[in-house]
Amino acid sequence: MGKRGFLKFLSLIMIAVMLAGCKGNEEQSEEPRLLLGFSQIGSESAWRIGNTRDIEEKADIYNIGLMLENANQKQENQIAAIRRFIAYKVDVIAFSPIVEEGWDNVLQEAKDAGIPVILVDRDINTEKEGLTTCLIGADFYNEGVMAANYLIRKADSLELEHVNIVEITGTQNSTPMRQRQAGFFDTIAGDERMTVLESIDGDFLKSRGAECMRHLLATYGDTIDVVFSHNDEMTLGALPEIEKAGFVPGKDIIIISIDGGQEAIDVLKEGRINCVVECTPKLGKALMETALKLKAGQEVDTLIHPEEQFFSDEQDTSLITPRGY
Ligand code: AHR
Repeated sequence: MGKRGFLKFLSLIMIAVMLAGCKGNEEQSEEPRLLLGFSQIGSESAWRIGNTRDIEEKADIYNIGLMLENANQKQENQIAAIRRFIAYKVDVIAFSPIVEEGWDNVLQEAKDAGIPVILVDRDINTEKEGLTTCLIGADFYNEGVMAANYLIRKADSLELEHVNIVEITGTQNSTPMRQRQAGFFDTIAGDERMTVLESIDGDFLKSRGAECMRHLLATYGDTIDVVFSHNDEMTLGALPEIEKAGFVPGKDIIIISIDGGQEAIDVLKEGRINCVVECTPKLGKALMETALKLKAGQEVDTLIHPEEQFFSDEQDTSLITPRGY
């Protein structure tokens, strides 16, 4: 290519780059397709942080304006956030209720304002009809069933005659706490080997998981065969306490966890956790698509459960791919 040809080529590239830049700006200045107010519970776990990140990313991809409020683990902060969304006249409200009770008044206000409400992750308990449009979240009952079925298989393979279980639960009166416990208890109910020594509230927090485990070890010592923990965070808090007390988690005590975050999967690979039931935080895509349908006045599915996996020492754990949360 001669000097002239090269300069022409260069100027064509520069024009192409400028046009690409203009297109990018045009896309960025496009009006959002709707305004979504989302009240998140807090930042109590890697799961929750991954869930927030996923919702932010998907709002960007779908060009949805997101008003995101973090309630720092307080129901009153969620109620205040929903009231702000109503005052701001957002198109759709979504929230993850920290507990099931106590939402009727604020949801009636949203209904009166004509703003549809989507439940994300957790459910509410109400006598009133039509306060929310749908629930996008995991099948927590089935997670409890999967955890219990693993335990039954493990007890069979180890030929255990008695199995003493301690349960560290998530936040009292929250949907995952209630349903995971129900699924687990219903499934072990027919198995005479199983005894639940104690269920204790760990509030889905790592620090509480450690505290609960210290109490359980002090009370039941070497009679504990199994820890069933309702999330990875509490499990990761409990493990060092078990080790400090002189037990080997994964061997002396069977460890069952829920969520499937990267840190817990790494510990499963080390053999210090036996089983992790997945609860995916990736609910953003379904949330954005549902919000767009509601804005367009279309029907939506009233219940959307994401597909979930199950990881345990029964499989080749080296094949588990990076988790992304
Ligand atoms: O509601 C989902 C639960 O909440 C996750 O299991 C837990 O980690 C989170 O805090």
